[in-house]
Amino acid sequence: MKTLLEVKDLSVSFDVYGGEVQAVRNVSFDVKKGEAVAIVGESGSGKSVTAQSIMRLIPSPPSRIKNGSVLFEGEELLSLSEKDMQKVRGNKIGMIFQDPMTSLNPTMTVGDQIMESLIKHQDVSAAKAKSRAIEMLHLVGIPNPESRIKQYPHQFSGGMRQRVMIAIALACNPSLLIADEPTTALDVTIQAQIMRVMKDLQEKMGTSIILITHDLGIVADVCDRVIVMYAGRVVETGTKWEIFQNPQHPYTRGLLRSLPRLDQRKDEPLIPIPGTPPDLIKPPTGCSFCARCDEAMKVCVDNDPDLSAIKGSDSHAAACWMLHPHANREVPV
Ligand SMILES: Nc1ncnc2c1ncn2[C@@H]1O[C@H](COP(=O)(O)OP(=O)(O)OP(=O)(O)O)[C@@H](O)[C@H]1O
Ligand SMILES: [Mg+2]
Repeated sequence: MKTLLEVKDLSVSFDVYGGEVQAVRNVSFDVKKGEAVAIVGESGSGKSVTAQSIMRLIPSPPSRIKNGSVLFEGEELLSLSEKDMQKVRGNKIGMIFQDPMTSLNPTMTVGDQIMESLIKHQDVSAAKAKSRAIEMLHLVGIPNPESRIKQYPHQFSGGMRQRVMIAIALACNPSLLIADEPTTALDVTIQAQIMRVMKDLQEKMGTSIILITHDLGIVADVCDRVIVMYAGRVVETGTKWEIFQNPQHPYTRGLLRSLPRLDQRKDEPLIPIPGTPPDLIKPPTGCSFCARCDEAMKVCVDNDPDLSAIKGSDSHAAACWMLHPHANREVPV
């Protein structure tokens, strides 16, 4: 499969009163054409900052993209002018945020909001944009789209508003959709419906997806590959089955034990990971997870491990000293 997006050594910091918050540290990953990739990790691990940096939507100051590269369809997004970046946003890369009420414009009809992006990016007539807006609302499962396009966001329920967000994000048929916790504010049945809509559209249109979520059921249902982030770093990456069935990083194992799973037995309790993530103003010199890790060794305190490939797989890698050949320890599965 062809690579659509390649993020390399991305580092993003916030300059705040107390110092420099190193929110994203040397993050690298790629997304292939038509692939759905999940980014998971505890709150504050840098998932949203990574996504917003790709879109160059992160306010600067206080943020600063310190180094790295974001290649999208072979083009370096980090060196584009703001004008050229606006042609990418909404047109080639669509984004859905967590809260549809704050992302939608309350003073514009839903139809106008879908049409706006089409007219801006695709140079189509108002009549063509209108019929496309109706088609998009129909695609995301909104009944009576012909009359609904004349209504305002407050006339839609939460789930319907999120469908409208998906319609806006996909109206220009972008090659990449970034969805940052798109269903967190919704109840479970609506969540499942929205994810189904996204997955169907992905399959129909061949869109690649980056999905940020805390919900492993959604990951299992929708995604091909998983990136696990901790304290601003990628600590493990692999296909969803490699991550679910053979997690190699102690943090990934902790995360899987702490979040509800569909295949969980009724008597299997959720076990939170003890302790708290490190202070990103002074991140530890060694492994960031060391202080919370039951399996930590001496080497983990002073040296931060790089991602190393897991034997026998070209998709699975984890950043843990236990995977070093000299660690001489069996990794429990
Ligand atoms: N405007 C800001 N000023 C200072 N620090 C910030 C700012 N925005 C984010 N951060 C810091 O960047 C780090 C990463 O935040 P981010 O929002 O990416 O986390 P996240 O993984 O998306 O978490 P969540 O699951 O809660 O959405 C956090 O430590 C956060 O405190
Ligand atoms: Mg977030």
